[in-house]
Amino acid sequence: MSAADILPFFRAWIRNPLRVAAVAPSGPAAASLMTQEITAETGPVIELGPGTGAFTRALLGRGVRQQDLTLVEYGSDFIPLLQRRFPGARVLWMDAAWLHREKLFKGAPVGAVVSGLGLLTMPPEKVLAILGGAFGYLRPNGAFYQITYGARCPVADVILDRLGLQATPIGQTFRNLPPASVYRISRRHPHA
Ligand SMILES: C[S@@+](CC[C@H](N)C(=O)[O-])C[C@H]1O[C@@H](n2cnc3c(N)ncnc32)[C@H](O)[C@@H]1O
Repeated sequence: MSAADILPFFRAWIRNPLRVAAVAPSGPAAASLMTQEITAETGPVIELGPGTGAFTRALLGRGVRQQDLTLVEYGSDFIPLLQRRFPGARVLWMDAAWLHREKLFKGAPVGAVVSGLGLLTMPPEKVLAILGGAFGYLRPNGAFYQITYGARCPVADVILDRLGLQATPIGQTFRNLPPASVYRISRRHPHA
């Protein structure tokens, strides 16, 4: 986590603590955990709630090209910063719950969705809209990676069942404030 990230993040948190959902950006251990299964071969990646770009930098480190990145961020404070830091990426100022209303891609070419959203504080209809929208763009065996500071997956079983999805924990780190876990959410029947 760079010092240049702490102040803008904290300022955004003061303005909207519920939406920003954490007082500080994720550290390198959480970023590494979140991106561990992503490579240059993953192709297009959508990142939800990039904030100051902690996971975005890690994605580039894994070999994802800036042109393959779509960053969806609702906090207006973060937009100019993301545009400056990742000039080759597509930066969208929008609510992640609107994914299904927009036509961001032709078909479903996306290999991975990386989400730093605070799903635990969102109403279930919103979580359903976000997951449903994201899976509309994901390839059959594409995956949605979600970070959480809670003890279990932040997507309720009823939502996973409704969308035909499964959640698998893929790691945990105590070298983050607060300690974080990552879940891979994928289709139960990718080729059905
Ligand atoms: C906990 S912060 C994580 C930021 C960054 N990924 C990190 O780990 O340092 C959550 C981020 O999600 C953004 N966010 C919250 N609700 C959103 C929504 N509905 N659509 C898009 N972004 C949202 C916030 O503005 C914030 O940048």
